[in-house]
Parts: sequence; C-alpha cells; structure tokens
Amino acid sequence: MTPWIRPLLCLLLGVVVWPTSVISQECSFNEEDGEVTTCDLVMDAAPFHRSSWRAGRGSTYLWQGGPKTDAQGSTTGGYGMANVADMAGKEAWMTTRPGESTGPEGRCISFSFSMGQLGVDFLEVLLVSYDNENPEEALSNSSIPLHYRLTTLWRRRQTTSGLWEAAQITYSTQEQHSIAFSASPDPHFIKYRGFVAVDDIAFNVGPCENECLFDKDLCDWKNTNDEDDFDWSLGWSSDKLGTGPAKDQASSIDPRITTGGYAYIDSAAPRLSGDIARLVSEVLQPREQPFCLKFWVNMHGGGLGSLRYRRPWLNSRTLGEKTQLDFWYLCQQTVASDQESQVVFEASVGLTGAGDISLDSFRVTDGPCPSQPVGTSRSWGDCTFRAGTCKWYIPARSPYDCSFLSRVAGTHYDPPGHTESWYHFTDMYMKFDLNCYTIQPRESAAMVSPELKLTEASCLSFWVFMFTNVATQIHVGALKVVLVYGERNETVWRLQNQQHSHWHYAQVLLPVSPDPVQVAIVGVQGPKVTGMIGVDDITVFPSSQCPVLPSSASVEKQDCTFDHNFCLWKVEGESAGRVTTDTWHLPTDNRVLKDHTFNADGGGFVYLFSFRSKKESRITSPKIDGNSAYCLTFWFSEIYEDEDAKLSIFRVRDGEDDEEVVWSVKQKHLTDPPVSDQRAEWRYAQVLLEPQSSEYELVVEGKVYDSSWALDDITFIPDRDNCKLIPAKDKDDEDTEDD
Ligand SMILES: *[C@@H]1O[C@H](CO)[C@@H](O)[C@H](O)[C@H]1NC(C)=O
Ligand SMILES: *[C@@H]1O[C@H](CO)[C@@H](O)[C@H](O)[C@H]1NC(C)=O
Repeated sequence: MTPWIRPLLCLLLGVVVWPTSVISQECSFNEEDGEVTTCDLVMDAAPFHRSSWRAGRGSTYLWQGGPKTDAQGSTTGGYGMANVADMAGKEAWMTTRPGESTGPEGRCISFSFSMGQLGVDFLEVLLVSYDNENPEEALSNSSIPLHYRLTTLWRRRQTTSGLWEAAQITYSTQEQHSIAFSASPDPHFIKYRGFVAVDDIAFNVGPCENECLFDKDLCDWKNTNDEDDFDWSLGWSSDKLGTGPAKDQASSIDPRITTGGYAYIDSAAPRLSGDIARLVSEVLQPREQPFCLKFWVNMHGGGLGSLRYRRPWLNSRTLGEKTQLDFWYLCQQTVASDQESQVVFEASVGLTGAGDISLDSFRVTDGPCPSQPVGTSRSWGDCTFRAGTCKWYIPARSPYDCSFLSRVAGTHYDPPGHTESWYHFTDMYMKFDLNCYTIQPRESAAMVSPELKLTEASCLSFWVFMFTNVATQIHVGALKVVLVYGERNETVWRLQNQQHSHWHYAQVLLPVSPDPVQVAIVGVQGPKVTGMIGVDDITVFPSSQCPVLPSSASVEKQDCTFDHNFCLWKVEGESAGRVTTDTWHLPTDNRVLKDHTFNADGGGFVYLFSFRSKKESRITSPKIDGNSAYCLTFWFSEIYEDEDAKLSIFRVRDGEDDEEVVWSVKQKHLTDPPVSDQRAEWRYAQVLLEPQSSEYELVVEGKVYDSSWALDDITFIPDRDNCKLIPAKDKDDEDTEDD
C-alpha cells in the first residue's frame, strides 16, 4: 500500500491519520484553560497492557510527585510524568500517535527529562513498530488485537536528582510506528515513590546535530580531497562475497529493523593496496563538559587495511585491522575540548577487492565513556568491566568464601552495573563487599593501574555506588583514589560514609608527574555492615579542567583519617619508622574509644597516654600551601582526669624558628572534663588558618601526666567562610600561652 492511499482509506474508515503526523509533533505540556495539555500524545497505555503516564506540573509536586518545575524552570508549566505509585509494578508508557515511515532522512527526537527518588529504575525511548494494517483502529477498539514489536532507541538508568537534562535520538524506520517513553519501577525499592518526567518533546525531519545514520547521504560528513586517494561510498549491502557488511548496523543488531545504509570504502579495482580515503565530520562545537563519540565499525574481509580515527591535535588511533568477521562493533571515545574540533576517519585498502571497511550510526552523547574497543586509545584506565578488568590489577580471589574485592553482576541484593547500553546484556562491575566476614574494620583492598608516566594532565572519571541496607548506619566505609609513587602514597580523592541508592559520577584530576606512578582505587572496610561499594565505567581522558566530583570527595594532602598510618604526618623522634607507645602512636587495641571515622573498634586514630609520668609528643604536618586560607577541623578526646593535660597546635613558617600557637586546650578548661575511666567521647574542633607569605608546617603537641589524648580525622577545608574557633577560647585560659 502506498502512503498516498492510506490517508484516504483511513478517512473512509472515519479515523483521520495524517501520514506524517509524527514528524512535526511537539509538546511542551503548556497550560490551556488552566489544564496542562498533552498535545497529541497518547496517555492511556491500556491497549499496550502498560500502565499510563499523566500530565503534571511543579506546583503540585507534593500532591502527585514529579519535579518541582518544568524543563524551562517554571513551577506552573507542565510536563508528562510517570509516577511509580501509578505503575502497579509495571512499565508505564506515553506514546505518540501511530505514524508512517520516517523516510530515509530519519527523525531527530529531542526532549528534556527528569528522574527522582528511589522507586524508579530507568527511562527508555522505544520504537513501537506495528504489524496491524490500521494501528489507530486497533488502539481505539479493544476487540481488535494489537500486534507490535519493540526496539530500544535510548535508555537512561541513573537519577537526575529531580533536575532536567536534555537528550536527543536519531532514528529511521520504514514501518508504521509510534515512539514510546517508557518508565520502569525499581524492584529493589518497591516501597518508595519515584517519578520520571519528560518535557519539550520535539520531532524534526533529518538526523540530530552531529549524528548520522548514513541512510540517505553522508549528512554533514565530507569526503576530502586532501592527501587522500579516493572517496568513501554509501552502501546498503555488500555485493562481494567475503567482504563488507551484509546489512547496516541497526538491522544487524536488531533483525526487526529491515532498512538502512552505511558508509564504506570500496576496495575493488582500480583501488590499490595502501590507497587511503578520508571522511571528515562537521565542526564539533566546544563544550564545557566532556562528551562521547559513538560509532559502529564493520571490518569484514580477508584483505583489510586499517581504519584510523583522529582529531587534528591528537595522534591517530588505529581502530581495527583484520577482524574478518561480518560483525558491527561499537567504538567510543571521550573528548574534552574547549576548542572546535573535527573527527577524521581514515581507511586504507589492504588487498584490492577483499578489504571493504564500513562505518555507521555516528552519534554524540554527554559525559565521558570508556573507550571501546579496548586498546584503541592511549588510555591505560578505561574499563566497563563487562569482559574483564582491563589493565587494572585485582588481588587474587581469597581462598575463603568471600573476597573483599571482585568483579560481579547485579543480583537481587546487589544493584545492576552502571554501563549504559541500548541492548540488554549482563553488566558487570567491581564490588568491595562490606559483608565479607574475613575483613576487619579499616582493612582495605585496591585495584591498581600499571606503572605510568603521566605526561599530560588527565581526568580520571568513574561511577560509584556506596550503600548499606541498614538505614540507620551512617558509617559505611570509604573509597579513595591514591597515587602510589614508590615509597610515597598520596590520596587525591576520598569519599566515606556516604549512602547512595544510585550510581554517582565521580572524577579527579591526575596531575602531570615526572616520576612513574600507579593509580590505586582503594576500598576501605567500615564497621561490620551489610553493604557494598561499587565502581564501574572508568574513563581517563586528557583534560586539565577536572574539578573533584562529588565535591565532598575533595582531600588536601595534609588531611588524615589515621586508618592505618599517619599519611604524610611525621611523629617527632620517630626513627626509621619505629614508633613506640611513648609518643603519639596508632593504637591497635583500644577498649575505651572507637575511631571517629568509622565508629569501629581496634584503633584508627592517633593516641598519646601516660601513667604518672610527664610525657610530651608532637606530630608534624607536611608542608602546607600558604596561599590558601583553610578551616582546620578535627576530632579529639581526652581520657582520665589530669590537671596537666594539654593539647596544642602550632604553626612553624618555612625558615623561621618561631612557633605560633593557633589552637590550644587544657583538659581542666573543657566543659564536662573526664572524671573517671568512663567511655570517652569525641569532641569537634576547628580553627581558621589565615593565608601566609610562605609555606608552613603545623605541629600538634600533646602533653599528659596521668591521662590520654586521642586525635582523628584532620581535615583542611579550603576557603571556608564562618570558621569560628571551637571550642571557644575561655577567658581563664589565657595562662596557657606561657606554660
Ligand atoms: C471493533 O472491532 C470489531 C471487530 O473487528 C467490530 O465488530 C466492531 O464494530 C468495532 N467497534 C467499533 C466501535 O468500531
Ligand atoms: C600505597 O598504596 C598501595 C596500594 O594501596 C599499597 O599496596 C602500599 O602498601 C601503600 N604504600 C604505602 C607506603 O603506604
């Protein structure tokens, strides 16, 4: 049936279907007569046996859920919304009215979306292809069975925390179809509420910006005449046995899609071995955030040359040689660029007539992505953990029942991995198992990179999941990124005791290092809890713009939680690493105090004690940058009554002998000083450190006669306002300066 006959036929049947109705459909869920309109969208999903979406708006979010504003930031503006409470455990759909083939130019769907709360698992955009002759009729008449097939065009799993993000999808189909926005409830959190909202939906003819399906032409890609020998061609199916693809990428992955073309190099005569063809993208605009180039490559043939991908200022990468099978594989590469860029594909002929190389489905998505296939990038760290641990060394599995660190898939008690895909597969990720009974509090395990030379500043990005299912347990454990330089370790990122019920994005700058370094991602066991710390989708990309995320994972090199060591602090009088209990030390068995970091027994803080003899001991910080103001915060505790006990902090400027007291307490001046050997409590302390003209060191000095001081979680917070002195200075305390 030709498209011209269909509207006529439909008119005769009394149902008006304009064949291109899906093309110009736009919906911003605006208000009309006090109601949020849903345009031409189908809100009743009963014919598909799905639950339904409805109209929502920010001003009623407390009543029926949804984000607090629409995508334009207005509290009165509307949006389409799926609410977990309405889903009855089923997917919820909002669909477009059935429309005809997209034609070879395809469509770009753009929309804004927002997801929030625990109850929702993911949002998908599905292509619903109808097998009914007249889908409109079948949708409106329940006695006519509805037949359709589904293809996932786009999927998003993690929450946007109620904020709005933009998305776009290019697709093409020959068939009568609808587009469905599908929200799925999360079976892990059935008691909770959750929502998915969509706004500003627009369909435009042609591919989205920077995307190309090669179904009609090369979109904005250009064949160059610049230092190459021939041009890329467009194809639909290879006519040579043994080389080139049988189908384009989308149809080969999903046999229900029957159409589409691709770009390829035709290696037939007159091509000679070594001939080169270059295909150049349109100019990609600079973006503030890193983005991901995704495309699919087919290298089928017995006589392949190579396919290289490059951007002007980067060395080229060889994407593949001689894979020989008729198989489309996904290639992806992160780009962080504050300048305009172009992508160049350069294919060379191996053996004349037997080396067609093909390219399809080019798209650009927000955020970094681990480079694929493994080994095509300079990156040493990229890993999805789907097939292995890439170049990360993992400790051997323990011979006991549990391993603290291992590669796992989601189960009914572990969350699924983070890796995004249009297709269903078993995702895997790295898990630090906090249930592992053989592991003591503060014990750690690490996944470690090969030894590297960091010749350019780069950004290490990954996704973290940290949770315990004991809701009241705020102490979970810690995850940190440590740079291991031979004898010296420096923590550059540390997240501890933070509960997440979703994967969260994390990143940290890896500075240029003249010395060889290994990067370690270290999990630290907290107290005994049921829970896990997950790590997935590591991507390392060149960039000097890489602020620490989440910001709560920021660390200064002089911070220390004293889990196992003094970090970069030194104990005065310590020689050759020998520390005695006469000085500040790390207790291994302390029955009066749990550590402050994890509230766990067995040490994990610094300790100085004496029994009827005068003791004095100091620890000294590493050199501290004088340019920055810091709010120095820490926790301390005093145990047993002691007239003479005193704890002080001095500043020693570079090259000067003067010691400036910046903070000091005497036990006898504390409110509620200790009276007996009752269980001790941690007290919070803070003091503002003004900027200095030079680098300086801080010294923590403890004095005891018949008692103890304990100290934990020294943290330097840069540039914090409102850093008042705690405990406040007591007037009677003035005499402390001179003893
Ligand atoms: C619904 O479809 C059935 C079966 O084709 C038909 O008999 C009936 O008349 C239809 N109803 C309407 C309201 O069109
Ligand atoms: C540095 O970190 C690595 C990896 O976690 C660890 O094996 C090593 O013992 C640490 N070295 C020092 C000196 O702390």
